[in-house]
Amino acid sequence: MEDTPRQFGPETLAIRTQTPRSAQKEHATPLFLTSSFVYDSAEDMAAAFQDDSLDVNIYSRFSNPSVDEFVDKVVLLEGAEAGVATGTGMAAVFATFMTFLSKDDHILSASAVFGSTHTLLTKYLPKWGIESTYFDMTQPETIEALIRPNTKMLYVETPSNPGLDIIDLALLGEICKKHDILYVVDNCFATPVVQQPILFGADLVIHSATKFMDGQGRVLGGVVVGKSELIYMLYLMVRNTGPSLSPFNAWVLSKSLETLHLRMEKHAQNALQLAQALTQHPQVSFVKYPFLPNHPQYAIAQKQMKNGGAIVVFEVKGGLESGRRFLNALQMISMTNNLGDSRSIASHPASTTHSKLSEKERQAVGITPGLVRVSVGLENVEDIIWDVEQALGKI
Ligand SMILES: Cc1ncc(COP(=O)(O)O)c(C=O)c1O
Repeated sequence: MEDTPRQFGPETLAIRTQTPRSAQKEHATPLFLTSSFVYDSAEDMAAAFQDDSLDVNIYSRFSNPSVDEFVDKVVLLEGAEAGVATGTGMAAVFATFMTFLSKDDHILSASAVFGSTHTLLTKYLPKWGIESTYFDMTQPETIEALIRPNTKMLYVETPSNPGLDIIDLALLGEICKKHDILYVVDNCFATPVVQQPILFGADLVIHSATKFMDGQGRVLGGVVVGKSELIYMLYLMVRNTGPSLSPFNAWVLSKSLETLHLRMEKHAQNALQLAQALTQHPQVSFVKYPFLPNHPQYAIAQKQMKNGGAIVVFEVKGGLESGRRFLNALQMISMTNNLGDSRSIASHPASTTHSKLSEKERQAVGITPGLVRVSVGLENVEDIIWDVEQALGKI
């Protein structure tokens, strides 16, 4: 009797997907730190350049085995057909916009998107004649009316940064299908461990791999996965314009994916415990976490997310000054703008990342003056809670 091939679980795929073992018989995956590749003959070299779709390495701006290994893992974890890696998350977002949007096209985006994505939409895309409109994630019933005949793409992050708004991915999938619009999801906050947008109809899924995929705050990276024919168009754009991922960073990221499942589970356990501990705190006016029942979209979070993720936001009483004092009083938790690290990180969006927005713009995306964002790390959860509580005691 013939053995049927085993369908490995995602944890196994994240560990066991590896470039074929070389003649050196290495166990851990090798790092292909090379700019270009050689050929056995002039004819092979000529053939490699003739056909853009040939599966042969030419130059690391086009492809590289370390980068391919990282991409293959993300493809498997997201349930996609193919993928392309980029040097940063923003390069992934920009390459996606540039590949699929042309002059006189329109993109419909959630208003609560990452700051640099907002800058791309409002400052750069208009230079090329591409219009954008924002929709309010908390009012999905208003979206269809914003679709125009030239709307080509719908773009969303869920949970959003830093407001943690959540939108029904399946509902967006139905809208995009009905109107024949490309459906693009930035899945950076959730990771494929927590949520797989392709299951809900997304055409392309984008990640800043800099965050949880690395998980230790070391390297920058980005990746887009989705349908093969779309990824091929994106691949040609990246190959020719050059925002490719460094093989070294890809090697780091691929090794990190081996622990993504374990890490995301622990991040979420710690985050839920911190969120629960803060709900009754006298210095905190509200706590928001996708898996706390008071979250406005709790039911949707339960439906499409495996856990609540690693990010907790809360409002300290006393506004902007209290937010600053809270950060200054922290003893262990790092003060930095990154997230998705094994180290817990706190930031105060109103005085930092979102300080250039007007008060009205900040309010529209849920950034109140005393809002603190914590990317909950993997330290002992009692130590994390202790640090937050002692800092709250000093504001
Ligand atoms: C949701 C989201 N998308 C995209 C990015 C951009 O990623 P990168 O910093 O890797 O360019 C970030 C970075 O913070 C992010 O949080």
